Amino acid sequence: MDITSVGRRSWVLMGVGLAGLMLAACGGTEAPPEVKVGTAVASASVAQTSATAAASKTTAATGANQMCAAFAQAADPYLLRAVDKQRGLPADYRPADLQTIDDRWAVSGFPGQIMRGQAAGAIVEMVSAAQAQGVTIRIRSSFRSYAEQQRTFQFWIDRLGEAQARRESAPPGHSEHQLGTTADVISANSGTGWELVEQFGALPEGKWVAAHAHEFGFAISYPPDGESVTGYVYEPWHVRYVGKPCAAEWKSSGLVLVRFLERLATTPAR
Ligand code: DAL
Ligand code: ZN
Repeated sequence: MDITSVGRRSWVLMGVGLAGLMLAACGGTEAPPEVKVGTAVASASVAQTSATAAASKTTAATGANQMCAAFAQAADPYLLRAVDKQRGLPADYRPADLQTIDDRWAVSGFPGQIMRGQAAGAIVEMVSAAQAQGVTIRIRSSFRSYAEQQRTFQFWIDRLGEAQARRESAPPGHSEHQLGTTADVISANSGTGWELVEQFGALPEGKWVAAHAHEFGFAISYPPDGESVTGYVYEPWHVRYVGKPCAAEWKSSGLVLVRFLERLATTPAR
């Protein structure tokens, strides 16, 4: 946590106002055919083709489910653990395999981003793949200890008042950032420098993340209109590593991540 970065956000927050751009209280290291045919024969043929395609899709989905189940079985208990306002982490939980990510992938002024080994490798794979496609995405925030989250949460309470802060920032011990598998990624084109803004989701960079994050093992934890489930506003920048097999299954499930993780936890391994 660095209060300087939080302070920067605060300035932007005050500058644009709450009614306009929704700034994230999350980051700051401190912070989703019809086929027309003319004859019955053709219709039957299309129907058969559709049935074959559907069966194939089901087989593929089942394969993905099995891969995720196998991945989950082998993963450590924290990797796919549901963390939300009700389910927290031990205050002293700090992953043992945190790694520092090359500063070239961090937002300028926010060096030394750290994540768990697999997640660090995956985030670099993701942002460098984006870069290769001309899409510039950088890491703004990553692992936050309990103490860092405590300071971040308090900062936002002081700035926004407790009710609004709780919609945007997790109480200490309840942030996915403490898992070391979560990052806030952002673009320089967000209109507020490198600050975390909801508008990111509508930008090419945010759309890229929404379309491709799962290919690299990441899920977007806080979707639009998900607050009734997650308790948090839309955070298009907040991605959590769940491994490629489970990210693929999460994406095809259409579920809010925490619901997906609950279901995964109660699904017997195959
Ligand atoms: N902004 C998310 C909820 C966090 O603080 O972890
Ligand atoms: Zn976040």
